[in-house]
Amino acid sequence: MRTHYCGDLRGVHIGQTTTLFGWVDRRRDHGGVIFIDLRDRSGTVQIVSDPERTPLTYPKAELLRNEYVVKVQGQVTQRPEASLNPKIATGEVEIYAETIEVLNAVHQQLPFQVSSADTESVREELRLKYRYLDLRRERMRSNLMLRHELIKTIRRYLEDVQGFIEVETPILTRSTPEGARDYLVPSRVNEGEWFALPQSPQLFKQLLMVSGFDRYYQVARCFRDEDLRADRQPEFTQLDMEMSFMTQEEIMQLNEDLIRHVFKTLKGVELPSVFPRITYAEALERYGCDRPDARFGLELVDASDLFKASGFKVFSGAIAQGGSVKVLPIPGGNDQISNVRIKPGGDLFRVASEGGAKGLAYIRVREGGEVDTIGAIKDNLTPEQLSTLLERTQAQPGHLLLFGAGPTDIVNASLSRVRLAVGEELGLIRPDDLSLLWVVDFPMFEWNADEKRLEALHHPFTSPKPEDRHDVKTARAQAYDLVYNGLEIGGGSLRIYETELQQEVFAAIGLSEAEATSKFGFLLEAFNYGTPPHGGIAYGLDRLVMLLAGEESIRDTIAFPKTQQARCLMTQAPSTVDAKQLKELHIRPALEPRPAQ
Ligand code: AMO
Repeated sequence: MRTHYCGDLRGVHIGQTTTLFGWVDRRRDHGGVIFIDLRDRSGTVQIVSDPERTPLTYPKAELLRNEYVVKVQGQVTQRPEASLNPKIATGEVEIYAETIEVLNAVHQQLPFQVSSADTESVREELRLKYRYLDLRRERMRSNLMLRHELIKTIRRYLEDVQGFIEVETPILTRSTPEGARDYLVPSRVNEGEWFALPQSPQLFKQLLMVSGFDRYYQVARCFRDEDLRADRQPEFTQLDMEMSFMTQEEIMQLNEDLIRHVFKTLKGVELPSVFPRITYAEALERYGCDRPDARFGLELVDASDLFKASGFKVFSGAIAQGGSVKVLPIPGGNDQISNVRIKPGGDLFRVASEGGAKGLAYIRVREGGEVDTIGAIKDNLTPEQLSTLLERTQAQPGHLLLFGAGPTDIVNASLSRVRLAVGEELGLIRPDDLSLLWVVDFPMFEWNADEKRLEALHHPFTSPKPEDRHDVKTARAQAYDLVYNGLEIGGGSLRIYETELQQEVFAAIGLSEAEATSKFGFLLEAFNYGTPPHGGIAYGLDRLVMLLAGEESIRDTIAFPKTQQARCLMTQAPSTVDAKQLKELHIRPALEPRPAQ
């Protein structure tokens, strides 16, 4: 039997006999003394063998190689002064190996070094192909441990302190409207019919409120067939919650308590008792996006009124067409950012154009109220406009003012991207800075120009604010997103619980009564049987782990993730299947299947 995990051994264990199981992390031969770092999921500890003190194990220790699986027995001893290692948790002790048993060897060359002492970076493709080895490495081991601690902390808090119960909801279900494409599963026994994998448990958790469960949560797997990015996976995990009889404010407060508890427990960080709240409109106005990174300033300034009648047509034309002119003022930007970088071909120009901008006009503020800019702006800038602009942007000599002009959404999207790039470049974010805020008062709908119809911004079960109820189409929603360092980690809303209002919202997004009944009839019917007012939220757990671990991709927080191309490099999924299987499922492929790989 194992007596300890390797990483748990400390000074207090000195004198005890221990039995350990683990992997050889590293073997060092110091001319007559062999040191082995033995590793298990808890960390490493130093094993020693030499011909004098442990003559029986020395020949075996000589044969050990990296990643052999071994059982070691011996006494925990104090390390000599000279070899104390304060950098590792077990650095005070070592174990003289009285027995070493090789349980399994390594039969093939390792594709990369696994040792915790090895800091060489390994290509992600290789890491994903041999994920089981990658998971032995320190970085992934600690990320998965953190993930486990996070989920454990959340479960304990929600169940034991707040009285939530976990209920599992189906994976084989109907399409849920979260806005992405569905993953579909053909039904063998119901020819021609398909299940959809859930994009979230949204409808089921609402129905659990109808059933009276009052406080539901689930660590829920969700599936969305959408374009992948560093913070998006086709299959991801939500912490999903729903509550009855609570106001928006009460739900937000309960969630603040939860997040505060998580940060205190896992990071020892005390968060404020109330998280800042910013409206959607204000977030767009000041930061150009609805998930602002408020760890630094560089706020946008609206200058549309100033340039309404400007002779510089790029500005006045944008405003005439209903757009805006906004400014990103960058203190000290004159020294840091050259013209080459903001003109076509430059890196900041490229960042702006990714947001849709066609150009980045600028004004450089010099000593004594002088400015440098392109001729067309200079020729049309009146002294009054200039002084108002300098005052409004609080520009000092050395400031660079970058302009966005055009449709407001493009101006916002491009300047917010430039803001983030410049904030990072100028080192405005200190490593320990942290910004957690709520964005509230989202509009109920946004215009989908391709389909020429309104689309629910959150989802069509979100309730409008009571004061905007007279016109749902322009109403603001009782919805809230939690934003952590500029990333949306959670979002939720109060739900509609009256059939009539739900029908009205379906109508607003162009869903006919017949379509609504066919897709969500079960929900609409449920509303007729005594539905409590309710609301909830869902967090992206993978994203939360990513931010807590300081990682840049959620792939590094998931044991077996997919690549950017939605493939698993280890199992080679997705794969072709036998024609027989397809036939049973009543599927005739439109394409010739590729030969099996
Ligand atoms: P929403 O669609 O905002 O809301 O999702 C909630 C949170 O899930 C995370 N998330 C993702 N994480 C990784 N990969 C993805 N593809 C992905 N998509 C979303 C985000 C997001 O904030 N049913 C509603 C919640 C509710 O109203 O209660 C919902 O799913 O962090």
